[in-house]
Amino acid sequence: MDKLIIEASRPLRGVVKVDGAKNSVLPIMAAALLTHDMCTVYDVPDLSDAAVMEEILNHLGAHTAWNKAERKVEIRADKSIKTDAPYELVSRMRASFLITGPLLARLGFASIPLPGGCAIGARPIELHLKGFAAMGAQIVKEHGFVSICAKRGLVGAKIYLDFPSVGATENIMMAATLAEGQTIIENCAVEPEIVDLANFLNAIGGDVRGAGTDTIKINGVRELRGAQHTIIPDRIEAGTFMVAAALTGGDITVENVVWDHLKPVTAKLIEAGAMVEQTDAGLRVWQGARQNVRPLDVKTLPYPGFPTDMQSQFMALLTIAEGTSIVTETVFENRFMHVGELKRMGANIKIEGRSAIIEGTRKLMGASVRASDLRAGAALVLAGLVAEGTTELTDVYHLERGYCGFLEKLSRLGAKLEAR
Ligand code: EPZ
Repeated sequence: MDKLIIEASRPLRGVVKVDGAKNSVLPIMAAALLTHDMCTVYDVPDLSDAAVMEEILNHLGAHTAWNKAERKVEIRADKSIKTDAPYELVSRMRASFLITGPLLARLGFASIPLPGGCAIGARPIELHLKGFAAMGAQIVKEHGFVSICAKRGLVGAKIYLDFPSVGATENIMMAATLAEGQTIIENCAVEPEIVDLANFLNAIGGDVRGAGTDTIKINGVRELRGAQHTIIPDRIEAGTFMVAAALTGGDITVENVVWDHLKPVTAKLIEAGAMVEQTDAGLRVWQGARQNVRPLDVKTLPYPGFPTDMQSQFMALLTIAEGTSIVTETVFENRFMHVGELKRMGANIKIEGRSAIIEGTRKLMGASVRASDLRAGAALVLAGLVAEGTTELTDVYHLERGYCGFLEKLSRLGAKLEAR
C-alpha cells in the first residue's frame, strides 16, 4: 500500500476489539532467549515490529513458529545462540536493542549495532549501558557497534535510573534474572508493559519483585525454563479508538481493555467533553451532549501520567476544540513531527519549545500528508476522518508497525478509507 485515501466520514459507531500490546510482545519475545526451553506467547498482534523481532531471533539461532490465525508464537532458543545482530536488521526497529539484556545474561556477551535515532528523538541507550556496567560488564563502542562483555557472568547491583526509561528497565531486569545475587533497580519505569514482562520472567522461573512500583528487585537464579504467557491488551491501540469516537462525535465500544491502564487517557477524554463508561467487555466512548470538544492542557509524562504515545492522537482531537489547548511533550525531544502535517490540513498550531499551542478551528481540510512515525500516522488518519474532502496519507507503513488491522477496524466502524 503506497498511500491511504481518507474521506470525510460520518461519526464512527460500533464495536472494536483491541489486540495484544506491541510494547509488551517485543520485550517478551526477546526474553524468550533467556531459556533453552519452549516459550509460547498468546495474544500476539500481527505487527511488522513483531515480525522484525522474530527475524532477529531467527538470526540469533532461535526457532520460532508464529500461528497468526491463533495469534500464538512459539519460541525456542535451544541451540547455540549467536551473540551478534546485523545492522540491517537492528536498524529497522529500535526495540531490537532489547535482545542485549537476554544475550548478556545467557552468554555473557553481546555485540549489537548502536541503535540510531528515529523521527521522535535521539533515543540514547546510556541508561541501559549504565545498568550493565554496574553489573560488571565491560562496554566498548566502536565502528557503530557496542560490545558488552561479562566473562565471569553478571553480578547483582543497585542501579538508580536517572530517568524511568521503559527500555532500560526492561533490559536490566532481563539481564539480572541470571546474575549472581540481587539487583535493585530504583526510579524504574512502572508502565503496565513492565509488569507484563516481569510476569513473564517469573513464569519462566525468574524471581522479579516490585514491578509496577518505582523499585524492582531481581534475585538471580541459576537457570530458567519454558512457559506460556498471554500478552496484555494494547492500551495505546485502545486509546486511539477512544479518541476516534470523541473526534468524530461517534459511539464506540472498545473491547479487550484493562480499565486501569487507560485511566490517564479516560480522564483527559472526559475533560474534553466525551462520555466514557465501563462495560462488561471493556469500555464505551461517545461524544456527550455537547457538540464541541473542550480545549485541554495536556502534558505527557511517564506512566501513570498521560502517555506520550497518545500525544499526537489527542492533538488531532484538539485541532477542532472550542478554544485554545496546550500540549507539552516532556518524554521525547522531537515528537511534534505531526504538527506540520496537521497545519497543512488547516489546523492552527504554534510550537513554543516543548509545547504546542493549538487554537481550535471549526473544520479541518483534506490534504496530502505524510506519516513521520507510527503514532503521528494514526493521528493523521483520525484527522482525515473529520476533514472536509479527501486526505491522502503516504508512508503508511508506519501504521502496520504498531496497529493490527487498523484500517479494517476503522472501516468496520464507518470510516471511509481506500488503500492504493
Ligand atoms: C518505549 O520506548 C516504547 N517502545 C515507546 O513506544 C514509548 O513511547 C516509550 O517507551 C515511553 O513510554 C517500546 O516499548 C518498544 P524510554 P523506549 O527508554 O523504551 C530517554 C510507540 O509508539 N532515554 O522510556 O525507547 C529517551 O531519549 C513507541 O509505541 C535516555 O535518555 O522509551 C526518551 O526521551 C514510541 N537514555 C525517554 O528517555 C536512555 O538510556 C523515554 O525513553 C534511554 C532512554
